[in-house]
Amino acid sequence: MGDLARLLKESWSLVEEHQDKVAGYFYARMFLSHPDLRDLFPVQMDVQRTRLLSAIVTAVQTLEDPERFDDYLRALGRDHRKFHVLPEHYEVVGGALIESMRSFAGEQWGVEYDQAWADAYAVIASKMLAGADADQNPPYWYGEVVAHERRSHDIAVFTVLPLQPLEFRAGQYLSLEATPYQPRLWRTYSPANAPRRDNSLEFHVRALGAGWVSSALVRRLKVGDMIKLAAPMGTMTLDRRSTRDAVFVAGGTGLAPVKSLLEELTRYNRTRWVHVFFGARTRDDLYDLADLNRLAARYPWLSVVTACSEDPTFPGEQGNISDIVARYGPWNEHDFFVSGSGPMVKATLKTLAELQVPPMRIKYDSFTD
Ligand SMILES: Cc1cc2nc3c(=O)[nH]c(=O)nc-3n(C[C@H](O)[C@H](O)[C@H](O)COP(=O)(O)OP(=O)(O)OC[C@H]3O[C@@H](n4cnc5c(N)ncnc54)[C@H](O)[C@@H]3O)c2cc1C
Ligand code: HEM
Repeated sequence: MGDLARLLKESWSLVEEHQDKVAGYFYARMFLSHPDLRDLFPVQMDVQRTRLLSAIVTAVQTLEDPERFDDYLRALGRDHRKFHVLPEHYEVVGGALIESMRSFAGEQWGVEYDQAWADAYAVIASKMLAGADADQNPPYWYGEVVAHERRSHDIAVFTVLPLQPLEFRAGQYLSLEATPYQPRLWRTYSPANAPRRDNSLEFHVRALGAGWVSSALVRRLKVGDMIKLAAPMGTMTLDRRSTRDAVFVAGGTGLAPVKSLLEELTRYNRTRWVHVFFGARTRDDLYDLADLNRLAARYPWLSVVTACSEDPTFPGEQGNISDIVARYGPWNEHDFFVSGSGPMVKATLKTLAELQVPPMRIKYDSFTD
């Protein structure tokens, strides 16, 4: 371990236990010295009290070699423009971070720790700033909700029309702010369509019990609302040069990016067999099955397998979709795309590893850590 990494780890270990208090001090310090910064953060700070602090600490500690993470940091800097972050804010945040750690560590803190954090933070901040500076896009786009349909008690499908063109690739995701309901809280969602001439984007969202943004998008959003969208990210895209057959594994609203990729394939595919595995707990959660079946009836290269894990009378497959995939195959010559909740993606990756699918042929998006 390098000297800098050692100093960062050593000093963080002095305060790690009091992370929540350090976060409280960090924000208090920042908002007292720069009250205007309060407007950048969500109304209810308790929602994600330690989010920024832990994000910075993780970045500083794990990005030991910032050159390797150049693209990530530049993208993060670009993305911070949607929060209205300005270059001069970086110094304020860096200062508050070091000061809050120093006050909690007490006498054990040393000047070498100050220097280590200041150096590491400066490298990361400069990369984020360079990314923000080079970006030609607006910090965010306004979009009007032009359709909103409840498909089950906790799932909605809605369409947004950005006021300016917003370029993305099928399979990518972008972050949304449910502006009228949860200002300054951004969450990522995957468009369920390939880029269209009219620029519209369809989203499939499932409201999570305690979820702030998803429940607003499902239960409160309505036609005519204006929301904000930020630049697309993600690499779960099609390689047009690949001639391999493809398998898509989707859990619940993990179907959204899969439909986007399917729509792209309908525009040019003639030669690749495509298999979709779509699973959910109950048949109500298979909220888009009618459209998926319509696609399968229209395109001879497409087949669909559905499964429910908690609906014994469902006529399709029974069980977790991650296990169902293994009942079909063989799959060792296929490209894989996996999308859904964290546990669903993890279980599917495990199945694919057992089936000896080479990891380089698998792309995935996990909705939770
Ligand atoms: C790349 C990517 C693409 C995504 N695409 C979509 C999409 O197309 N459609 C969609 O519906 N969602 C998608 N998500 C998930 C989405 O970004 C949010 O995480 C989700 O809507 C919850 O946000 P929230 O504000 O409602 O919940 P929060 O307020 O952030 O969380 C509330 C509570 O729920 C827990 N929680 C958060 N997410 C989940 C989860 N998935 N399952 C179980 N518990 C959870 C949290 O730990 C927390 O305790 C995607 C996520 C990622 C990372
Ligand atoms: C080294 C510097 C920084 C790093 C590594 C960093 C990292 C991050 C990350 C990873 C997130 C979560 C993003 C998401 O969930 O979409 C975040 C959110 C956020 N950051 Fe930063 N950030 C830095 C500097 C700043 C600065 C200078 C500001 C200005 C005040 C800022 C303001 C915010 C805000 C407002 C949010 C969203 C609100 C929240 O989640 O609490 N960040 N940051």
